Amino acid sequence: MKRPVSRILVINDEKLILKELIKGLNAAAKSLENPLGITFSGVTTAREALQAIQDDGDIQSVLVDDTLYTLKNGEKGSRILQMTALKLVQEITRFRPELDIYILIAQEKEDEVVDALFSETVDGYFYREERDYRGMYRILNAQLQEKARTPFYDQLKNYVLMAKDAWHTPGHSSGDSLRDSPWASDFYQFIGEHIFRADLSVSVPMLDSLMEPSGVIAEAQKIAAKAFGARRTFFATNGTSTANKVIFQTLLAPGEKLLLDRNCHKSVHHGVVLSGAHPIYLDSSVNKKFGVYGPVPKQTLFRAIEEHPDAQALILTSCTYDGFRYDLPPIVEAAHAKGIKVIIDEAWYGFARFHPAFRPTALEAGADYATQSTHKVLSAFSQSSMIHINDPEFNEHLFRENFNMHTSTSPQYSMIASLDVARKQVVMEGYKLLSRTLELAKEVREQINSTGVFRVLELTDLLPDEVKNDNIQLDSTKVTVDISHCGFTVEDLVRELFERYNIQVEKSTFNTLTLLLTIGTTRSKVSRLYDALMRIAREGRAPRRLYQIPELPGFTELKYLPRDAFYCGGEIVPLLDEQERVNDSLKGKVCADQITPYPPGIPVLVPGQTITSGVVQYLISMLRSQKRVEVHGIVYDGYLPCLRLLSDAEEKSLKKLAK
Ligand SMILES: Cc1ncc(COP(=O)(O)O)c(C=O)c1O
Repeated sequence: MKRPVSRILVINDEKLILKELIKGLNAAAKSLENPLGITFSGVTTAREALQAIQDDGDIQSVLVDDTLYTLKNGEKGSRILQMTALKLVQEITRFRPELDIYILIAQEKEDEVVDALFSETVDGYFYREERDYRGMYRILNAQLQEKARTPFYDQLKNYVLMAKDAWHTPGHSSGDSLRDSPWASDFYQFIGEHIFRADLSVSVPMLDSLMEPSGVIAEAQKIAAKAFGARRTFFATNGTSTANKVIFQTLLAPGEKLLLDRNCHKSVHHGVVLSGAHPIYLDSSVNKKFGVYGPVPKQTLFRAIEEHPDAQALILTSCTYDGFRYDLPPIVEAAHAKGIKVIIDEAWYGFARFHPAFRPTALEAGADYATQSTHKVLSAFSQSSMIHINDPEFNEHLFRENFNMHTSTSPQYSMIASLDVARKQVVMEGYKLLSRTLELAKEVREQINSTGVFRVLELTDLLPDEVKNDNIQLDSTKVTVDISHCGFTVEDLVRELFERYNIQVEKSTFNTLTLLLTIGTTRSKVSRLYDALMRIAREGRAPRRLYQIPELPGFTELKYLPRDAFYCGGEIVPLLDEQERVNDSLKGKVCADQITPYPPGIPVLVPGQTITSGVVQYLISMLRSQKRVEVHGIVYDGYLPCLRLLSDAEEKSLKKLAK
């Protein structure tokens, strides 16, 4: 295993003192235990310090001299104010909040220094004149070790190494049921011994309980909260799909209003049914040329907040699957002004805190709740997500009840361990890895454009007109490529890349492909992608006519609460009549299910919504292009596609929503 490298940067404007400090600290690091590979280096100006912090991803901690406010700039004697220690601490924290920061107090008046830095995230103070380099090293080392700790994973590993006999679930009993089986040992060997040995259960008390954590899971969650800038963090082992539902059920009582982007993930729409919330749908912007759905326009959001001050919560996705990031601070501010809680679905953005190119995160922008699929973009196992909470009125009891309602009583412990480790990794080397990912993203973009056939779509190409002035940003690790000149249909291109070049892309629209770069993207993968696209480009095929998905119809009236409609038995009615035309008897009826064509994954109908012929036409055209589009929620009566609708009697029994 590679040994870690940890650099600690010392900032002091007096060269001789700096030299002595570095020498003393490095000598201490050499002579004492040093498992994290700590070394010290120094700079004399704030500018150099900020540059080093930007360039060197191995810097883990910073020691700032309190006399920095009189930094010498150039010649001896010319003491010009460059930057106060306070300002430098603020700049460092803004740039890399995961760094530990210590202040070296040079003067007797430590009260003044401590007071000035009171509201900043300073991890400790040292009085320089003591010259206690070994003592300083011990503290710096201990603090770094605390950050690099993985309490749950360590305990899981220890337990496995203790090799206790299992007289408890799971039934495979550390893999013993499989190991020698002539029928199933192949699975054991393929998946690996440790997956089975680490697959334990709540019967093992030293591994804590995800449902009532008080030991190593509680500790791991506490360290994660600090890392992600949250008051509280909870690990979820059923993905962000469940995390969203848990938050809805905590914040919304039946009938209470929720403002939501119509383009939210389906788990959000399912959460509306489960919580019984009264949804106020906000139309997303759309880029018709590329079939890409964008953010909800700021004006739409501000208007909705004004018109529905009684809403309990607002949920938005930032960044979106395509990488659009909202300008969150003014939106959060407007919502908070009306007492509306803000939930941000950061399923695709769990890494954002660890590189300034992606910040502010939702929590930094003031959001109350953020849900992150740690597994989508960091090194956690699939389904491992985190819920971060900064709501000052957080009701822990209610949250816990809802969390436990959705959480299996047999959570997968390897997933919890993977969240612990993913947090450690992103804190200790996230900045470095994300800097590399950004570099690779830049290279991928240049290489794709150099094919002359494929073109990467930048923010200006992708941004729908309605949100051009909304200060939307693009996460450049999501790369959307225009394929309309390559001579392939998108299905054929995806197949060609897969079958001939062993490349699986993230997603596609009728004329684009989206590639996702993560901290796991390697230079080799980049070269292979470039090679494949260049070869395809050189085939010189004539461009094909591409089938464009019809436009999503506008949102029709929501007549009943989605939950009320969903729980009706309903009746099954075909979409087409005997002549294969739109079935007239559907018009004006109310849908009981959520109908979502995928792609684009935006519901055309939600439970309780009125059906129009435009909606049915859209669904029929989706079904006719079935080769590419799945339509979730359709019921099949033999070959006949049908919808589940509310019967007249059911409609009579339900309370209509006010218009
Ligand atoms: C915006 C958004 N939110 C939530 C989810 C659900 O996340 P998970 O797969 O972790 O359940 C997804 C999944 O694709 C998503 O795109």
